[in-house]
Amino acid sequence: MTTPELVPRFNRTERAVHWTYAVCFLVLLGTGLTMYLPVLSQFFPSRFILRQLHLAAAFFLFTAPTLIALLGDRRSLAADVKVVDEWDEDDRAWLNDTVNGFPTTPGRFNAGQKLNAAFVAGSALVFLGTGIVMAINIYTRFLPAWLVSNASLIHDLLTWLALFAWLGHVFLAGVYPPTRESLRGMLTGFVRRDWALKHHPRWLESVTGLGPPILSKEPARYNQPVE
Ligand code: HEM
Repeated sequence: MTTPELVPRFNRTERAVHWTYAVCFLVLLGTGLTMYLPVLSQFFPSRFILRQLHLAAAFFLFTAPTLIALLGDRRSLAADVKVVDEWDEDDRAWLNDTVNGFPTTPGRFNAGQKLNAAFVAGSALVFLGTGIVMAINIYTRFLPAWLVSNASLIHDLLTWLALFAWLGHVFLAGVYPPTRESLRGMLTGFVRRDWALKHHPRWLESVTGLGPPILSKEPARYNQPVE
C-alpha cells in the first residue's frame, strides 16, 4: 500500500485552541449533567465540588484559548474566523447538496462546519451570561427570581442542544467514514490530499496554488465512503 499524500491543514495554535476548548467543554457538560440529572447526581453527593469544577472549567473555557491565541499564531486563527464568517453561494448550495446531491466546491470549511462554529461561539456566550446569573444567585440573593429561573431554564435547554450538536460533531469528525479523515487534521495537522480535493477543493486550490481544482461532475455523495 502506498503512503497517502498529506497536506497541512491545522497548525499547532489551531489544534491547541480546539483541544483546550474541547476538554473544558466536556468537563462542563459532564459536571453540568451530573448536577442536573438525579440519576447521575446520586453518585456524587457533593454538589459543592461539582459546582467548583464546573466554574473552573467555565473560567478556562474562555481564558485558555484566549491565552493560546495571544501567545501563538494569532493570524491563522483570525483567518479561520474570517472564513467561518463569510457565507457564500457555495455554502447555500452545500446545504442543498446534502439533501439533493448537487455537486459543490467547499472552501476551507463547508456550510455545516460554519453553522457548527457559529453555534459553538453563540452558545458559549449564552452559557456564560446565564451561568453568571446562576452563580451570582448562589453566592448572593440579590437577583430577582424571574431572572434566575429564566437563566437556569435557558442554561438547561441549551445543554441539551449542545449535547446533540456535540454528538453530531463527534460522529462526523471521528466516526462517519466519508468525513472522519478530518480528525487526522485536528490530531496531526495533516489530511489526505485526495480527501481534501473531494471535501474542500477550493481550500486545497488556495493552499497548493495548483489552479482550478479537478471537480467531479458527480454529486458529492456524502453518504458514501471515499475510495
Ligand atoms: C461557560 C460558562 C458557564 C458558566 C459560568 C456556568 C455556570 C453554572 C452555574 C453557576 C451553575 C449552577 C450550579 C449549581 O446550581 O450548583 C450551572 C449549572 C449547570 N450548567 Fe453551567 N455554566 C457554564 C457553561 C455550561 C456548559 C457549556 C454546559 C453544558 C454543555 C453547562 C451545563 C450546566 C448544567 C446542565 C447545569 C445544571 C443546572 C441545574 O441543575 O438546573 N454549563 N452552570
